[in-house]
Amino acid sequence: MHSPASDDLERVIYTREQIDKRTSELGAEISADYASGDVVLITILRGGLIFLADLSRQVSIPHTFDVVGAASYGPRTESSGQVHITKDVEVPLRGRDIILVEDIYDTGRTLRVVRDLLHVHDPRSLEICALLVKDRPRIQEMSIKYVGFTVPDVFVVGYGLDYNEQYRHLDCIGVLKPEIYT
Ligand code: IMP
Ligand code: MG
Repeated sequence: MHSPASDDLERVIYTREQIDKRTSELGAEISADYASGDVVLITILRGGLIFLADLSRQVSIPHTFDVVGAASYGPRTESSGQVHITKDVEVPLRGRDIILVEDIYDTGRTLRVVRDLLHVHDPRSLEICALLVKDRPRIQEMSIKYVGFTVPDVFVVGYGLDYNEQYRHLDCIGVLKPEIYT
């Protein structure tokens, strides 16, 4: 028998209720800012999926969404430094208002590469919404218009974020027990 994945957490940083509340605030802000826009929410596989699904349903104005694929982290908790695009967008972006929705802004490498990719599609505007912003020095400084929460420089999992592809399904965001990765 497996024990629940949540047993591997040392502590919870944000509960489902806190995430939902913040997501609905962000959705309201986006809906007001883009009242006359032609909005496409775009997230990065796979970490941003859960946040995109919830954020989209809190954005009340008409909009569409799509996903891009990017891989940066290997099996460990440190960025490999290389970001590969594994899947491009499929909806047309030319002349539209793009919001790049990301799970976490860490070193900034992934956002930088994906933002540059999206610019090639010639959108009218391009802003970033990150559920979490890690409080750490950046390799690529990016301007994030919509920030969910600022978190300390610790490795977090849950609500889309993984360790070795596990824990994405947890409905809270938390810190793993150190024995899990040693
Ligand atoms: P960056 O390119 O260093 O900014 O890293 C961005 C990607 O690394 C995110 O989209 C996440 O998939 C992953 N990542 C960064 N920090 C964490 C973390 O604390 N937990 C889980 N994944 C993380
Ligand atoms: Mg990841």
